[in-house]
Amino acid sequence: MERRRVYIETHGCQMNVADTERAATRLRAAGYELTDRPEEADVVLLNTCSVREKAEQKVYTRVGEVRRLARRPLVGVMGCVAQLEGEALFERAPGIRLVVGTRATDRLPVLIERAQTARRAVDLGDRQEGERWDVSPVERHSPYVAFVPIIEGCNKFCSYCIVPFSRGRERSRAAREIIAEVERLGELGYREVHMLGQNVNSWRPRTESERAGLESFAGATPFSRLLRAVAATGMRRIKFTTSFPRDFHPDIVTAIDEHENLCNWVHLPVQAGSDRILRLMRRGYTRRDYMERVAAIRRARRPIALTSDIIIGFPTETRAEFEETLSLVRECEFDGLYIFKYSERPGTRAASMADDVSPEEKRERFLQLEEVQREIQRRRLGALVGQELEVLVEGTSAKSAEHLTGHSTCNRVVNFAGDGRLCGRIVRVRITEAKEHSLWGEVVAEVA
Ligand code: SAH
Ligand code: SF4
Ligand code: F3S
Repeated sequence: MERRRVYIETHGCQMNVADTERAATRLRAAGYELTDRPEEADVVLLNTCSVREKAEQKVYTRVGEVRRLARRPLVGVMGCVAQLEGEALFERAPGIRLVVGTRATDRLPVLIERAQTARRAVDLGDRQEGERWDVSPVERHSPYVAFVPIIEGCNKFCSYCIVPFSRGRERSRAAREIIAEVERLGELGYREVHMLGQNVNSWRPRTESERAGLESFAGATPFSRLLRAVAATGMRRIKFTTSFPRDFHPDIVTAIDEHENLCNWVHLPVQAGSDRILRLMRRGYTRRDYMERVAAIRRARRPIALTSDIIIGFPTETRAEFEETLSLVRECEFDGLYIFKYSERPGTRAASMADDVSPEEKRERFLQLEEVQREIQRRRLGALVGQELEVLVEGTSAKSAEHLTGHSTCNRVVNFAGDGRLCGRIVRVRITEAKEHSLWGEVVAEVA
């Protein structure tokens, strides 16, 4: 009997979520059924991430679990671990029969067939010219919020990072395709889009005519012109991530000032507070450069929420340099912060340096930074009590069945009592309580 039902499990960043949606679209078009229950699946695909420590090990453990499911599914690995490890995965975990690189998602239907007939299949190739990016609404992770990739890959080669190897070189998507997709999403009733890329600021028009087409939009950089072009579609809420500090031009803040539908949230990963460490990380900016970007963001007409990523315990980072990170975090007062302990990624430049900050020291720095951030967050979220935020109602709260949940324009999670029929609406919520990572409030009006 032919194997037809596919389950895809997604780990890692929003790019992987977007890839899963695209893969599911291609599979369904080829006659496969998608299921969200692994035990019902004939094919199980793990869409993997390599950023964290022991990423491969976790994949092997999960493969071991899914291959033993009663239906004995065909198991495949896609995403960043697949791209990096390639055929070696077959040897390391004999349960794996399919390895699909980060740019081979569109060829999945053929690859599954090949794995069924030839026992194994692998594809680490590039996207082919003219491949489609479209995603069917049924495969989207939400009926109201859509991820729209605008640029793939990364050319930055920060010394610690595996992404340029797992995702390849930067490749921008054509402006007219992006705009057409956002227009279509608007017609389908989507209220919010997230423009995605490892570095959205690196987005470039692919042709001269495309560049000319964007000329009617103001802005000093191609990305800010694209932002304005997307804003002009009338999509209700537009968010974008991730911004790369070196290339973050203040014209982005101007665009947010001038377009109500460009949301007041910027994710700007700083990584470290010490110039020596930033140099070793090859980030291409100094602490001062970063603080200038933050100052521009703080001068915006609407308050813009600012979130960031930090790596503690980079090779040779001293206690004093870590304290520079602490002082930067205190100065910036981030609204949210993802803290990572440095972990060596094979093949990166930093891997040639000794990973010399001990695990105990990393743990201590992690906890200390977390504590500083917790205090800041408590203060910043607390300051919102009594204020009103515009929230897109996305579903019922995971914490309590009587509550609805959604995100504010500034990307904070907000919970409130309300009728499920409000899902997909935008409401004004008065904040009554601030918890550690979320806000609670009551609906005062329906906005749209
Ligand atoms: N393109 C984004 C980041 C993508 S990876 C940017 O440039 O900001 C997401 C986060 O993982 C990074 O911001 C970094 O903080 C963390 N990270 C990446 N490689 C890491 C490593 N080797 N060790 C610890 N954290 C890492
Ligand atoms: Fe990694 Fe740096 Fe590229 Fe971000 S910009 S994906 S941290 S190499
Ligand atoms: Fe992880 Fe790959 Fe994204 S390594 S963070 S899934 S680009």
